[in-house]
Amino acid sequence: MPKSSSLADGAKTYYRPIEAAIRWSGLLRFERRILATLGQRPLPEATEFPRWPMLRLNTERIFDALAHGEMPYGKEGLVRDTQGFQQFRVLATAVDLRLFSLLPARGAAVPDVASMLGFEERPTRILLTALISMGLLEKRGPRYRTTPLSRMYLVEGRPAYYGDFVQMMDRRLYDAYRHLDRSLRTNRPVTADPAIGDLFRTMAQDPAMVRLFTSGMHATGTYWADALAKSYDFSRHRVLLDVGGGSGIYAISIARRYPRLRAVVFDLPGVLEIARRNVNATWVCVTSLFNDC
Ligand SMILES: C[S@@+](CC[C@H](N)C(=O)[O-])C[C@H]1O[C@@H](n2cnc3c(N)ncnc32)[C@H](O)[C@@H]1O
Repeated sequence: MPKSSSLADGAKTYYRPIEAAIRWSGLLRFERRILATLGQRPLPEATEFPRWPMLRLNTERIFDALAHGEMPYGKEGLVRDTQGFQQFRVLATAVDLRLFSLLPARGAAVPDVASMLGFEERPTRILLTALISMGLLEKRGPRYRTTPLSRMYLVEGRPAYYGDFVQMMDRRLYDAYRHLDRSLRTNRPVTADPAIGDLFRTMAQDPAMVRLFTSGMHATGTYWADALAKSYDFSRHRVLLDVGGGSGIYAISIARRYPRLRAVVFDLPGVLEIARRNVNATWVCVTSLFNDC
């Protein structure tokens, strides 16, 4: 990761989240002390700096905004445009390896992580170091452990688990974007087979991909569905039809908030098999034909 650099007038080309949080919290005069205490750690502990609780809170808010894609250039400015693919593959590989879920809460040293993953120590250390630079792991003595950010979003079973979306983007779109130029030149999609139909009909040929796609949309929809349910008043309506409703996440969130609303998810048969497992029949029903439910 590039070091944050200074411009002649004292402003910098970019700020680490902690540096931005220090300014946001009005603690600039303590910056040197705070950074020296933290070292490479991206986030203060909950008990650290008890005089300045806003420091940890504001740093968490910045990480949260990054994770929600609300800061498109992220913490590294334009570097992300040229090297973002490396960071994405590091993240996707760590999710595939289930590293964040496997690491014990107290952390683990390189030899233990290496034997956990079945790797040699050198590549294990490289992977762990890359994840530290991304704020997804932290190192205490010889032990590597998850950060608040990775614990919240990348440990399986957590309510905000985001790994399914990471895996979906990786398997479905990472290679496809290699051929973006072809798609632009030919005005044709690269993820659909025209002999079969659009990309969803094409994907329907591969049930494992349909499952991955739908779980990925579900993982990312968790955030937006809740926001939608809170921001629009559905009480004036009796029936909600979600066309292309996927896993049912939007219908579920809205129907949960408005129990008198009858919500119907309309989608392709393979997707509805997944939706059926998610919905509670008293709130939401699923259909591939309008008169099914
Ligand atoms: C981008 S996904 C969005 C899913 C969901 N609305 C969400 O945001 O999580 C588009 C959805 O449209 C569905 N879809 C595409 N073509 C369809 C069709 N002809 N009939 C019904 N559903 C279709 C897909 O199966 C997929 O679930």
